[in-house]
Order: sequence, then C-alpha cells, then structure tokens
Amino acid sequence: HAEGTMRDGNQSSTLGFILLGITGQQQQEDVFFILFLFIYPSTLIGNLLIILAIHSDIRLHNPMYFFLANLSFVDILFSSVTVPKMITNHLLGSKAISFGECLTQMYFMIALAATDSYILAVMAYDRAVAISRPLHYTIFISPRSCFLLVVGSWVIANASTLPHILLTASLSFCGKQEVANFYCDISSLLKLSCSDIHFNVKMMYLGVGVFSVPLICIIISYIRIFSIVLHVPSTKGMLKAFSTCGSHLTVVSLYYGTVMGMYFRPLTSYSLKDAVITVMYTAVTPMLNPFIYSLRNRDMKAALGKLFSKRISS
Ligand SMILES: *[C@@H]1O[C@H](CO)[C@@H](O)[C@H](O)[C@H]1NC(C)=O
Repeated sequence: HAEGTMRDGNQSSTLGFILLGITGQQQQEDVFFILFLFIYPSTLIGNLLIILAIHSDIRLHNPMYFFLANLSFVDILFSSVTVPKMITNHLLGSKAISFGECLTQMYFMIALAATDSYILAVMAYDRAVAISRPLHYTIFISPRSCFLLVVGSWVIANASTLPHILLTASLSFCGKQEVANFYCDISSLLKLSCSDIHFNVKMMYLGVGVFSVPLICIIISYIRIFSIVLHVPSTKGMLKAFSTCGSHLTVVSLYYGTVMGMYFRPLTSYSLKDAVITVMYTAVTPMLNPFIYSLRNRDMKAALGKLFSKRISS
C-alpha cells in the first residue's frame, strides 16, 4: 500500500496543480491582476520604509519599534509567497503550479501567518509591561528577552506548520487537480485528495490553536492595559504608552478579522464577497500595516521625514 501511495505522490508531483484564480472568471481576474500590480509594490516599499526608518533613527531603537520592524519584514515575505506567482502566471497566461511550489506556498502561508500572530502577541505583551510595570520595563523587556521573543515566534510558528505540510505531502492526488483559489491553501488541497483525510482535518482543527493562543495572549494583555488605564490616575508616561496601543489594536483587528473571514469562508464558494476577503487577507492587510503605524504615530512620521530629507540632501 505504501508503494502505491508513493507512486500516486510521484504522479501528482509531475502533474502539479491548476490554480483556478480568485473568482475563476477571466474579466474579474484581470481586475484583480491590475489591483495586485499596485498593491504589491506598495507593500514592499511601505514596509521597507518602516524598517529603514526604524533602524536609521536612534530614537526608535526600542523594543516596540523593533517588533514593528519585524512585523513589516514578515508582511513583505507573506505577500511575496502568493502575489508574484499570481502576477507572473497571469502575464504568462498560465494557471499551472508544480507540486513542490504548491507545498512551498502552503508552508510559508501558514508559517508566516502564524509568525505574524505571535509577533502581534509579543507587541501586546510589550505594551502591557510598559503600562503596568513602567519602572521595571527594561528588566522585563531586555535586549536579550526581545531577541528570545522574536526568535521564539519564528521557531514556534515554523515547528507547528511542519506537521501539516508533511501530512499533506504524503497524500495522493488523483483525478481533478484544480485548486479553487489563486494560491495553494491547505483546505483546497485536502478536498482534492483521494486519500483518507480524516487525520489531516483533525490536525487542521488543532492547528487553529496556533492562531488562538496568541489571540488569547493579546486579549489578556489588553484586559490588563485597560484595567490599569481606567482605574489608576494616569501619569504622562503611561498615557504616552497607551497612545501607541491604538495602531496596534487596529492592526490586530484587521489581522484577526480577515483570518476569521477566511476561516468561515465556504470552501468552493466563488462569490465576490469571498474573493474580497481572500484579497484582503493575502495582499491588502500586509500593505496597510505601515500606513496605520506611520499615520497615527508622531515619532514614526518624524523618522520617515528624516529618512527622506537625508536621502534628498545626500
Ligand atoms: C527584529 O527584532 C530584533 C529584536 O528586537 C531586532 O534585533 C531585529 O533588528 C528586528 N528585525 C528587523 C527586520 O528589524
């Protein structure tokens, strides 16, 4: 039996898959293609500017901004997993994706989304410490613990993604190999398999925990933040720390809003509403983070301004 599975696996690896697209209709695909042509460069430039501004301004050399730079880095990678492939396929008039590319896309989509959620949780924890323990902040959030929190986010996210990819790679695919999406997502692939997928589906539900653990951390952090800000007569420093929570809360709501939209999306539905949620999740949210942070944050605006004036004068 194992040999049979191997042979089927090999067969699908030579055939690959067909990506049907965001809605599956040519005219709409053209519209999304043009949209992505604008969104993707904006995502790259916006997030790169955030990273450059933070690293070049000594006043932003603190944990909160380093975490933000990490978030921008993850967002650049996240949108690079799906959008360039969609753009090149559209230009080449092709819908094909190889089995290896498909699994790679799936791996990075899950791992980077998970890393994103852990970094959002780390940022919430950072704000909670800044507000509840302002005097001991540098002890709790030392350069060493910053490094550990960031590396921990990457390691946990990747380690919890690997089993899903290995399980999917061992499935056999026969018959129709059309993925009802513009990238390889795990639920579409499971649906195409002719193996027994009960265990895979169970693991997928378990994997939802990867996204809910950081969410629980974020909720606990904000309960702590609000209980302090609402009950203790606030000092100036505490208010300043609280003012930076607004951008973070906006990004968190956008992220979990679209994740939930994706999760509750019917598998084969091709309605325009589902298409919009998919595009929001894969391309728009990663583009918006830099805008949310740079528009609402005075220090960030100043750093970006300095970055531009330095470039112009040099
Ligand atoms: C991510 O965070 C770490 C630790 O704070 C920092 O050293 C590193 O420069 C950050 N990465 C980016 C891309 O800014």
